[in-house]
Amino acid sequence: MKKNKKNWSDRFSEPTSEIVKRYTASVDFDQRLAMFDIAGSLAHAEMLKKQNIISIRDFNAIKKGLNQIKKEIISNKFQWSIDYEDVHLNIEKRLTEISGEAGKKLHTGRSRNDQVSTDMRLYLRDASDQLVILIKKLQESTIALAEKHITTIMPGLTHLQVAQPISFAHHLLAYFEMLERDKARFIDSRKRINTLPLGAAALAGTSFPINRKFVAKLLKFETVMENSLDAVSDRDFLIEFNANASLLMTHLSRWSEELVMWSSPFFNYIEISDSFCTGSSIMPQKKNPDVPELVRAKTGRVNGHLVSLLTIMKSQALAYNKDNQEDKEPIFDVVDTVLDTLRIYGEMISKIKVFPKNMENAALKGYATATDLADYLVKKGLPFRESHGIVAKAVKFAIEQDCDLSNIELSKLRKFSKLIDQDVFKYLSLKGSIQTRKHVGATGFNAVKSAIKKAKSKL
Ligand code: ARG
Repeated sequence: MKKNKKNWSDRFSEPTSEIVKRYTASVDFDQRLAMFDIAGSLAHAEMLKKQNIISIRDFNAIKKGLNQIKKEIISNKFQWSIDYEDVHLNIEKRLTEISGEAGKKLHTGRSRNDQVSTDMRLYLRDASDQLVILIKKLQESTIALAEKHITTIMPGLTHLQVAQPISFAHHLLAYFEMLERDKARFIDSRKRINTLPLGAAALAGTSFPINRKFVAKLLKFETVMENSLDAVSDRDFLIEFNANASLLMTHLSRWSEELVMWSSPFFNYIEISDSFCTGSSIMPQKKNPDVPELVRAKTGRVNGHLVSLLTIMKSQALAYNKDNQEDKEPIFDVVDTVLDTLRIYGEMISKIKVFPKNMENAALKGYATATDLADYLVKKGLPFRESHGIVAKAVKFAIEQDCDLSNIELSKLRKFSKLIDQDVFKYLSLKGSIQTRKHVGATGFNAVKSAIKKAKSKL
């Protein structure tokens, strides 16, 4: 055999040029699939033995060789070479070196087409499991912070304008809910990742008497894929995973935007721990919230990969096409980015310092209890639209006087409506306003306490 000869090269009379070799090789990036590739190969070999397609002796030689390769890879001694294109051919070539003729039999009834899809599924199943654990950890940090701030009052905003006072814990729990849905999405998409393509071979299945269910069982796949063409060409599972990651990052980008604002001197609601910030090389006073800023930006990166994957799949005729080799770098980067983001986020949230007084002062600035005055009048018999108009006038008056609604004397308030009595002040305070919102999902302190209890029970 010629040196560095590829196992498909007998069909060719001219060698591959260096640039084409480089252009078509994926080993530089797909070698990270090595452990999954070996696991898949071991299962395939065991099935070949069980079905009497290879001998016990050959199986033992293959098993021994693959285990040795595993050790070589872990100890960084394995020689990867672009002469052998991808992770699959590199490992197979080394196996043949170690195990001789037996190694050459491993690929019986299999193709790289079903092999690569199997590897990617094993890889992504593992990533999904890690992600779910990290989402849970972030949820735990979120709840721990929320528990400390049930009665911390902040202005709830709409259009970035002061709307109504809310509990800071309530605000945090909104992110808990988003994360809960993200987690559910990853758990759900795992089911579609966890189906076995192996056995589809190149595209049409194989003439060997294989046992796909046995391989599925060995590799802990829930089912075998029903159609061989679909099995080798489907990349929905990657796209779906990336879409889930995009939503997760989108949620974290929203939170990050708030962390950036809250830690600015204009808000001064929180301080992000020094270990998550950097200084400026020119302005000595600066402490920049780099981590949340980067989370915001990395969302763009993950979204970009989603567009890449969708575009790679668009218009692809059945079955496998080399286009699909391009799915790896995007999805690896998505996994790396999201795992790191979650790791860092959980820690950042658990170390955040909160300034409740500043939050409360901000809530006092924008007539946050105006709706409460309107509701008060409604409860005294006025139609809501009318009371809305009356309160608007009262707010206008308060702006002129440069004071809060709760600072206007009763006699002056009564000029706007005779329905207003002394008891109104109970509703005009921030705390009073919050405490009236008692139902499930509302910001009342007790409702929030119950929400925390419920959230905890979900973890
Ligand atoms: N490296 C290839 C990929 O990632 C493996 C499958 C190659 N199959 C083929 N028929 N060339 O998609």
